[in-house]
Amino acid sequence: MKKITAAITAVGKYVPEYILTNKELEKLVDTNDEWITSRTGIKERRILKGENKGTSFMAIKAAEEVLRKSNINPEEIDLIIVATATPDLMVASTAVFVATQIGATSAFGYDLQAACSSFLYGMSTAASYIESGRYKKVLLIGADKMSSIIDYTDRATCIIFGDGAGAALFEPDTEGLGLQDEYLRSDGAGREFLKIAAGGSILPASEETLKNGQHFIHQEGKTVFKHAVSNMADVSEKMLTRNNLTKEDVQWLVPHQANKRIIEATANRVGLESEKVMMNIHRYGNTTSATLPLLLADYEDQLKKGDNLIFAAFGGGFTWGSIYLKWAYNS
Ligand code: UT7
Repeated sequence: MKKITAAITAVGKYVPEYILTNKELEKLVDTNDEWITSRTGIKERRILKGENKGTSFMAIKAAEEVLRKSNINPEEIDLIIVATATPDLMVASTAVFVATQIGATSAFGYDLQAACSSFLYGMSTAASYIESGRYKKVLLIGADKMSSIIDYTDRATCIIFGDGAGAALFEPDTEGLGLQDEYLRSDGAGREFLKIAAGGSILPASEETLKNGQHFIHQEGKTVFKHAVSNMADVSEKMLTRNNLTKEDVQWLVPHQANKRIIEATANRVGLESEKVMMNIHRYGNTTSATLPLLLADYEDQLKKGDNLIFAAFGGGFTWGSIYLKWAYNS
């Protein structure tokens, strides 16, 4: 019997209509378009507006695009994983709600939280279920409404993050396509540098925590930046060497979109020219769990069956890693 690998067979995306430009941010905090562009590469980001719209609103739309494109019946889906740092609710999983809303009545679902590495870790989880032979259709969605945890008076974070969602369907493959290798890491020493201090079990919500702004995301940018640059570059390089891949063998680098300078440093380390580096940070900013699937959706028509893709991400926790995947279809 041929070995079962886990291939991505369809992708979808959703970004909200509202565009928050650098110019508009200039009115909210002491910043300017030139600083944001040169330090991060970001020009604009999307913000989900409207009452009662949470992360699931975007996740559902991205999932529905996958259903349309793949032509599958939602009842065929076995499992839905929503990778997110901003679930709709603290306890009830966003994925469960998404499953019901899209008519995936045979599926079970749960959320996966690893900050900006959520989708990368989710790829490993989704692929493992497929490789084991236990499930045939796993829908992995990366979605975050970062605007729900941003303090729009904090210039260290409000310029970076945006809202969005992307989704990828994982199915068995017997031609050797799909996920080839992974190297996932974490280090709890990092949790002080990128976190939401309150609202969890250590510091539950109170009048005090609200007053202190402790429900917003806080980041020590410089420290996170240094770790992100060295770790994303290290794991990407490791992924190439341990799979005997030269830079010519790699068609695409698919890097988490946190900062253009981090992306460029990673690409430089593995010797990939900019034409081979997926990038959309200028349009969406850092959408946390959604960056990788948004890249796949935006670049889908340039991808060819058999292309070698190297994914890399770094996020709060700290969490980081790299995945090597062979693209499975021509669109
Ligand atoms: O996705 C999860 C992981 N997250 C990341 O990977 C993000 C990593 N960090 C970063 O991308 C960068 O650290 C930032 C974009 C957040 C900040 O860029 P930086 O080059 O590290 O800036 P900095 O914090 O060292 O600040 C440099 C200067 C400071 O002024 P002085 O002290 O040199 O006079 C800041 O006060 O820039 C100032 N500054 C700003 N100026 C205009 C900081 N933020 C801003 C701002 N607009 N928004």
